[in-house]
Amino acid sequence: MTNRIGILTSGGDCGGLNAVIRAATFRAIKDYGWQVYGIKDGTLGLIKDPLDVIELRLEHFDGHLMRMGGTFLGTNNKGNPFRYKQKNGSIKDLSSKVISGLHKLKLDALIGIGGDGSMKIMQKLTKKSGINFVGIPKTIDNDVMHNELSIGYDTAVDVATNALDMLQPTAASHRRTMILEVMGRDAGYIALNAGIAGGADIILIPEIKYSLSSISAHIEKIRSAGRNHALIVVAESVRKENGSRATIKYIDGEVRLGGIGTYLGDEIYRRTNTETRVTVLGHVQRGAQPTHRDRLIASVFGVHAVDLIFQKKFNRVVVWQNRGVTDIDLNQIAGKSKTVKIKDPLIKVAKGLGIYVGDI
Ligand code: F6P
Repeated sequence: MTNRIGILTSGGDCGGLNAVIRAATFRAIKDYGWQVYGIKDGTLGLIKDPLDVIELRLEHFDGHLMRMGGTFLGTNNKGNPFRYKQKNGSIKDLSSKVISGLHKLKLDALIGIGGDGSMKIMQKLTKKSGINFVGIPKTIDNDVMHNELSIGYDTAVDVATNALDMLQPTAASHRRTMILEVMGRDAGYIALNAGIAGGADIILIPEIKYSLSSISAHIEKIRSAGRNHALIVVAESVRKENGSRATIKYIDGEVRLGGIGTYLGDEIYRRTNTETRVTVLGHVQRGAQPTHRDRLIASVFGVHAVDLIFQKKFNRVVVWQNRGVTDIDLNQIAGKSKTVKIKDPLIKVAKGLGIYVGDI
């Protein structure tokens, strides 16, 4: 008999997390009469003493919560319990603590909401502890395998599209080429989708090679046709023309993606007769108010995950395929990521609109 389930958010936050927690809690309490425990800060809530956990009740979700970005449970993208970085820099395996936390809670099943990295961690935890697990994919990068839509992706694309809407008038007013650098890790989904929706002239994604000479020629062509400005969207992990990555070393010693926009801005300024400016969109793509589509996907995923627990179908991940919800074995998703394929219909659409998407 299932009586108690846990739920946690893991990895980077995004729009729709509160909506999915709400959906799972509603289904579990209203339809099955279970108790639901929200674990704070990913798996970190389980290594705390006392455990950092709250019992979720219907009244938690009465008001504004599902409309809000972020996750009210908190999350963590550096909290791998198998390789937990201590304050002094040393690495410790805290997985046994997490597992004993789960046992202390006497959970019958755990719902983990995360990306492919979090699913990999949950897969290892499942193997080590035998916990009954169901996963829900969320990531603005939309790079979870076998899943067409991750929670948070639509909101991120919307923010990037809005940014292009706001950049176009200022680009036109100053006769400039505006470069918008967007997130997405190793996948170009945000750049490609927002670029098309936001009327970009050039979309650069990590999956397709570009050349600075083709970019310059494209901008000159736009200008000689009579338009005084241009819009470029570039995904953060696009490489420089020589193949090196654009990265920034942060004060904590970590090297993170960033800077490809500035590189392109300088190169285009040098090669064309146009002034360039760069906007790095950053975490506003994650923290924005979730779109209706993210709230819907979140609601569908939350209910489906709880139904899987009811049916005792464990080690499954809820996915969106062919315009509907289904589920798939955790092993097929954990640690595996997808990227934009050259044959993606949107590449053809972009080319059809006269957008330069690289040398293909
Ligand atoms: O994976 C989600 C994501 O937002 C990426 O698109 C981005 O590269 C990264 O996380 C940023 O992570 P952080 O929150 O650690 O800066």
